Amino acid sequence: MERLITPTRSLRGTLRVPGDKSVTHRGLMLGALAEGETWLYHPLKAGDTLSTAAAMRALGAEISEEGAHFRIKGTGLALREPADVLDCGNAGTLIRLLSGLLSGQELFAVLSGDASLRRRPMGRVTTPLRQMGAHIEGREGGKLAPLAIRGGGLKGIHYEMPVASAQVKSAVLLAGLFAEGETVVVEPAPTRDHSERIFRHFGLPIAVEGNQIRTERARPYKARDLTVPGDISSAAFFIVAALITPDSEVRLEGVGLNPTRTGLLSVLKEMGADLAWEVTEGHDGEPVGWIRARSSKLKGVSVDPALIPLMVDEVPILAAAAAWAEGETFIPNLEELRVKESDRLAAIAKNLHNLGVRAEVGPDWIRIRGGSVQAGGVVEPFHDHRIAMAFAVCGLQKGVTVQDAEWASISFPSFWEDLERLSSKD
Ligand code: S3P
Repeated sequence: MERLITPTRSLRGTLRVPGDKSVTHRGLMLGALAEGETWLYHPLKAGDTLSTAAAMRALGAEISEEGAHFRIKGTGLALREPADVLDCGNAGTLIRLLSGLLSGQELFAVLSGDASLRRRPMGRVTTPLRQMGAHIEGREGGKLAPLAIRGGGLKGIHYEMPVASAQVKSAVLLAGLFAEGETVVVEPAPTRDHSERIFRHFGLPIAVEGNQIRTERARPYKARDLTVPGDISSAAFFIVAALITPDSEVRLEGVGLNPTRTGLLSVLKEMGADLAWEVTEGHDGEPVGWIRARSSKLKGVSVDPALIPLMVDEVPILAAAAAWAEGETFIPNLEELRVKESDRLAAIAKNLHNLGVRAEVGPDWIRIRGGSVQAGGVVEPFHDHRIAMAFAVCGLQKGVTVQDAEWASISFPSFWEDLERLSSKD
């Protein structure tokens, strides 16, 4: 589906973005393992998390949609062998976390997904899970899905992660809940800590000391309701849209402000953004609050490489902001972007060029020359939700055509309607 975005004069209003994708995946999984009923309030109901709900149902949990919420009747740590291949769709978080979880179960399961997911690296999870004792096969010796897992009989390991990845950390920790002895994961750099927080919420064993995270075998645990905060990765599109559009002010309510997710806010501030936020409450272990963004004159910056793991999904929208900034923006430490839903570094460069913006790309960096976005460009999402939304925002002011706009529904089904609602046109 092609979507024509006509030039936007200003962007104003208040928005409650959909639930956090990372927290929803984890809530569904841990609710499915608990004893009794967990209500997951305001989860994300979108392509990726509906794949997780379907997978957890196939593993024996009863999950019903109750209005905006999910009601999960857990299995009490006793998942059932699935009758068919578990289809993880487009969701990297699902296939990697579920690989960890299923490595701990005495059952056989096959995990696969769409063409993008079957290209993404799985060796990063199959390597430590095999070290723990799981039997996992996959294409190219276990580097690519489909993955076939026969779990059980795990032993805890001390694992130094070669990449800063919350998905890898979480996969090993979930397996650790079913392993003999202690499991320790060492992070090369801090990554999102939703798994650690949700383990605490459900009373599961977890200890964090510096860059070391420990867990051990779980005893059956009771269900506990969980409210999912709004997704800051979705809020990011509206923040940047307001910053780069004249006469604009957008307020986002109920957004997750976990400090392992707010890297983009720091970078935008450094670029000169008129941006404010405040944590006003804690939802079941996650800090939540509001963000306010106003039209700003942005300037290019050189981004601190240490911030990238704290904003790994926001690089496409940062690139869109950089295209509107005065001067040059340099973003390093982007190796991981090559293995996301698309090769995001290549996709960013292609779309910047489509919109007339000069950019130079290296193996793990991009340099963007701001201030030259042209009217009437075409956005090519490369089957990637965040590329579609980020470059729609980049083209908002001058008008743009977005190809395959339906990809937004992977994480933000109401994106186009919300954008329409807040926009005033000439
Ligand atoms: C996620 C971790 C990140 C992120 C993804 C969600 C998670 O991936 O890009 O969208 O929920 O743990 P990596 O762990 O590969 O960095």
